[in-house]
Amino acid sequence: MGISLLFLSFFIGFSSCARPPISSHGGLHSDSPLSFENLRLRNAYTALQAWKRAISSDPLNLTANWLGSNVCSYSGVYCAPAPDDRALKTVAGIDLNHGDIAGNLPEELGLLTDLAVFHINTNSFCGAVPDKFRDLKILFELDLSNNRFAGAFPLVVLDLPSLKFLDLRFNEFKGTVPRELFDKDLDAIFINHNMLTGPLPGNFGNSPVSAMVLADNKFGGCVPSSLGNMAGLEEIILSNNGFRSCLPAGIGRLKNTTVFDVSFNEITGPLPEEIGEMVSLEQLNVAHNKLSGGIPATLCRLPKLKKFIFSDNAFTGEVPDCLKIGEMEDGGNCLPERPGQRSRDQCKPFFLSGPATAAHLDVGKLGTLCFINVKQYMQRQLPN
Ligand SMILES: *[C@@H]1O[C@H](CO)[C@@H](O)[C@H](O)[C@H]1NC(C)=O
Ligand SMILES: *[C@@H]1O[C@H](CO)[C@@H](O)[C@H](O)[C@H]1NC(C)=O
Repeated sequence: MGISLLFLSFFIGFSSCARPPISSHGGLHSDSPLSFENLRLRNAYTALQAWKRAISSDPLNLTANWLGSNVCSYSGVYCAPAPDDRALKTVAGIDLNHGDIAGNLPEELGLLTDLAVFHINTNSFCGAVPDKFRDLKILFELDLSNNRFAGAFPLVVLDLPSLKFLDLRFNEFKGTVPRELFDKDLDAIFINHNMLTGPLPGNFGNSPVSAMVLADNKFGGCVPSSLGNMAGLEEIILSNNGFRSCLPAGIGRLKNTTVFDVSFNEITGPLPEEIGEMVSLEQLNVAHNKLSGGIPATLCRLPKLKKFIFSDNAFTGEVPDCLKIGEMEDGGNCLPERPGQRSRDQCKPFFLSGPATAAHLDVGKLGTLCFINVKQYMQRQLPN
């Protein structure tokens, strides 16, 4: 409320005066009087000047030209006709990617009500995501990745009715993810590389996303059995968390999924036979888990499968069709005919008493290898 009152007085002050005094509004030269084409651009000016004041370091001088009333000429600020009134020019996008800027996001950014795109990846913004972001009713893409945002998952994103693309990866968000996130009509959820915890909620599989990346957090518990309901899912990466259940048989219903990565967890049991029904599968990574049993025969015959990484588990049995896959890693298992397998002693329990014992497998000693792979993963996944 404080902000809207402040803004109101600002507005009233200026509306009564075409050429307002500018001295009290910071940093302007006396020869550049403010005048705005429309109220939305005036609001944008208020928002952007507040943001500039909230920036403590801008080594590339991206905001150095954030002066005066022509906000559409500011670096990283993009104007377009307003969707609800094509005659009005308004701020439609912010793109300060790779700016190395330190500071925070002020509540005044909620004045940018025509924003469709807000991209600030690879900066050092910290603090919280402003509650006033809920005024960004047509925001479509929110990319806050690779910054220093911390605290609880930003619930305000749940209130953005037009949001399709949510990218919060490479920050320091902690705690659980709200179940409402998975009921939201999003197309992509990237929340990898934070400090998020907890089991995933049962409604996980309601999410209509085509891409979901939850890697490099501290999620645990079960891989949700509702996963199989995600008919539109094309890519999912759950690697490097603490998932401990079996893989649900429902994944056989993921007919559009091309990339499926659950590596570096503690998943037990066999691969479900139904995995051979994932007809679009191109890349499958189940490495570094506690999986055991045989490889389902139909899996390695999937027509599009060109990468299958299943090293460092306790698989037993023969896998002739798998040897034909372009990129295949099967080391560190208990495959009798293959090189680089676990020792006879380590493998004995899996041949004797079946899959259940795989839960006791010690994969903790493989930490160094794990680190290398995660690093490679991070480089590959760095937002741009
Ligand atoms: C940014 O501006 C400062 C002060 O004018 C200058 O010293 C510095 O070289 C500028 N940095 C870049 C990357 O242009
Ligand atoms: C699966 O992919 C096909 C072909 O791209 C597409 O037509 C179909 O709508 C997709 N299914 C879902 C549920 O998104």
